[in-house]
Amino acid sequence: MNLLHRLFDRFNLKTTIGDSSTRYRVALRDESNRLGTETPLSRALRQAADEEWSDDELTTFARIEVARHQVIANTCPLGAPYKPADITVGRMAERASKGPDEARLLYALTLHQEPTAPLEMGTCCGVSTAYQAHGLPMHSLLTSLELSPILVGAARMVLDLSGADQSKVDIHVGDFADTFKDALGDPAPDFAFVDGNHYFGPTMAYFGALVDVCKPGAMLVFDDINWSDEMKRAWLEIRSHERVAEYADVHTMGVVVLR
Ligand SMILES: C[S@@+](CC[C@H](N)C(=O)[O-])C[C@H]1O[C@@H](n2cnc3c(N)ncnc32)[C@H](O)[C@@H]1O
Repeated sequence: MNLLHRLFDRFNLKTTIGDSSTRYRVALRDESNRLGTETPLSRALRQAADEEWSDDELTTFARIEVARHQVIANTCPLGAPYKPADITVGRMAERASKGPDEARLLYALTLHQEPTAPLEMGTCCGVSTAYQAHGLPMHSLLTSLELSPILVGAARMVLDLSGADQSKVDIHVGDFADTFKDALGDPAPDFAFVDGNHYFGPTMAYFGALVDVCKPGAMLVFDDINWSDEMKRAWLEIRSHERVAEYADVHTMGVVVLR
């Protein structure tokens, strides 16, 4: 067992594989019943369900998790508009970043989807950004959008510590209201992880704008689809949209593939 794996163990980050594995297996079964054929989505679900990771992948996950623990220790306050008023970078990393199980699914989704122009809405401390960045093919550029420059500073540190290739990640600082439209530009996203502003109106607006520009085969991932009644409603509308060819519901995340 190498040093990173020992650290991974020390921080007790092996996580509840059983729970998420069952969720991914159920999503995979439902998806296969609907489609009857292998797709990047089904391959990612299977890999995450079976926890089929190489030693290199486990080392990468361990590095990201060690970086997550470093950022959790960051006591820098975020200030307005974040609440509560004394919330810190570290608390935000603990509260808002994807946990290791679902982050590994995100990694598998980018690995099998092989997007060239992925988009992330909500970088936060860069934990999900790092998992996605490590799954990307060579000539891919991940555009990640984040409001807080303080969080972006933390995210750059997480990306650096995780060994991610920073030339594959372009973080745009600002409100989605100002950055999202440009991020839809040429080329249009072929993968998107929507993880900020979890309300019905904004979520449907982001989905609508993505559907307008994305080509068939684009994969869109929505987080916190069961967080509230309005997010449940948004997810039901999204997955039944006429452009949706495939979907998987993995409890906190909903994934659709466009036709
Ligand atoms: C749930 S966190 C993202 C977590 C991150 N994807 C991860 O798993 O590591 C949501 C992030 O979206 C950002 N955010 C929320 N609303 C935003 C807006 N209107 N414009 C830009 N960023 C926003 C927040 O600052 C926060 O960092």
